[in-house]
Amino acid sequence: MSFHNPVLVNKLFNEIPFKKDGIFFDGTAGGGGHLATMIKKSTSGTFYAFDVDKDALQHVALRLLSEGFEGDNPYVKKNITVELHKKNFKYAYELNKKFDVAILDLGISSYQIDKKAKGFSYKSGVNLDMRMDDTLNADAKTVLNVFNKASLINIFMKFAEENKQNSTSLANLIINCREKKRIESSDELNELISQIYGSKKSELQSGLKRIYQAIRITVNDELGSLDLFVHSANEIIASGGYLIVITFHSLEEKVLNNLVDSRNSFKLLGILTPDEDEINSNKRARSAKAHIYRNIK
Ligand SMILES: C[S@@+](CC[C@H](N)C(=O)[O-])C[C@H]1O[C@@H](n2cnc3c(N)ncnc32)[C@H](O)[C@@H]1O
Repeated sequence: MSFHNPVLVNKLFNEIPFKKDGIFFDGTAGGGGHLATMIKKSTSGTFYAFDVDKDALQHVALRLLSEGFEGDNPYVKKNITVELHKKNFKYAYELNKKFDVAILDLGISSYQIDKKAKGFSYKSGVNLDMRMDDTLNADAKTVLNVFNKASLINIFMKFAEENKQNSTSLANLIINCREKKRIESSDELNELISQIYGSKKSELQSGLKRIYQAIRITVNDELGSLDLFVHSANEIIASGGYLIVITFHSLEEKVLNNLVDSRNSFKLLGILTPDEDEINSNKRARSAKAHIYRNIK
């Protein structure tokens, strides 16, 4: 199975007039698919690629070596240099660079969801973890066993977009359950979620997806990282440079809206979505939206 099948990759880079020489940033390197495509489009320049997951960086490093790059971070091939950083993209400003093209492909990779030990999946037998960065202190078990009732209700309402009644009922079920035994596995959590959404298969499926998403967003502070990046965008995207952000749900889109407020100089050039063929070959692409911004400062 491949590490990750990148979404919208061809459509995206055909859409923007790609500068062949420049400073490029991929804040979510993952399997390196978008990065590899950007590299192919350029003749020279420096690429900075971040990911918080050490497995992703290891995979990208091997991929670069297999594609003719040499060295050990930075990786060099002819006039192209690639630096890999195990770092959150919210710290991109620390590089002190102005990027000609920057991309964020938000959320998690197929590798992360498929690898049981990462603890993201609601499949049976998963030990809940959900940290993209395994040096974080708090994991999904912390959220489930330590967060108080008000915090649990808050994350279900905010990040699963669940109503107050269901959020409160689920928080109560979690608290009753953990008083007897710590909640550690997907099976234990799924049993509680099914008490709220259990009557119809489609509703259960949607409930599982949204509640797991809410916990994942909390553990990794996903929206906080995006918000910080958005607030530094003016400083880190070159004048005339492009910023591409691929979102998968409306909460991410809401944070992005801050990019085009009066304090910023970004213009939304367009939003790309996958066509039927891509959706048929890559289920994950279904909800992908690539927002293309240009810094018109
Ligand atoms: C959807 S995948 C990216 C796939 C990649 N574009 C490709 O072509 O293979 C998202 C990746 O971003 C990483 N990630 C998510 N949030 C991050 C953050 N705030 N900072 C750095 N990496 C992050 C995840 O660990 C994951 O590897």
